[in-house]
Amino acid sequence: MKNIVIAIDGNSGCGKSSTAKVIARKLKYIYIDTGAMYRAVTLFFIKYQIDLKNASDVDSALKQIDISFEYNIETGKNETFLNGKNVENKIRQMKVSNMVSPVSEISMVRRKLVEQQRRLGKEKGVVMDGRDIGTVVFPDAELKIFMTADLEVRALRRQKELMEKNTEVELEEVIENLKSRDNIDSSRADSPLKKAQDAYEIDTSNLTFDEQVNQILDLIKDKVEVE
Ligand code: DC
Repeated sequence: MKNIVIAIDGNSGCGKSSTAKVIARKLKYIYIDTGAMYRAVTLFFIKYQIDLKNASDVDSALKQIDISFEYNIETGKNETFLNGKNVENKIRQMKVSNMVSPVSEISMVRRKLVEQQRRLGKEKGVVMDGRDIGTVVFPDAELKIFMTADLEVRALRRQKELMEKNTEVELEEVIENLKSRDNIDSSRADSPLKKAQDAYEIDTSNLTFDEQVNQILDLIKDKVEVE
């Protein structure tokens, strides 16, 4: 099978990351969670109280940030490292979720991360998920998926994920966070979340996890056989 780039975009909590991970494992592809990269930058900005409106502070903070991923054999997961420190759990906390969209609006932040994402995907054989992968990062990706799901379904999934990490959170708080991020992520000036013209849309509200994975695997088979 030839190596391709698979771009999976969509709103927060519609199952992009969990689906992308399984697809990558099945194909022996690299999986890159670009949301984790925006979250790692946000964690750094929170820690050092960077003023998002001060361009020179943002610029010098970005120069001090190095993000990498390492595969953890015990958990079977690719984990996120910020300046050599494992921040996989920290970046999923609500205080980061509440700040990540304003940070992702900043063009300087996007420029740095998009550059790294293109480098990571250059050899192909990659599944990358985010908001602008099919539109900006890899507009020539061989397969583009745009995932959607009802707000309530997404909130319940996010709450369950947080509970599994021992973080108690009210459903209402998750709903408000998702609504606000949907709004900022889709309306920002630089690289807003939108479906690429040539993306396949998959609404996962009423699909089981296996069904959503299988739909994508079928699309991959078509692509790889046809091209
Ligand atoms: O996928 P996620 O929910 O972990 O992403 C967190 C935030 O990062 C999301 O609300 C917007 C931002 N993001 C982005 O702007 N562009 C991407 N390619 C990925 C994420």
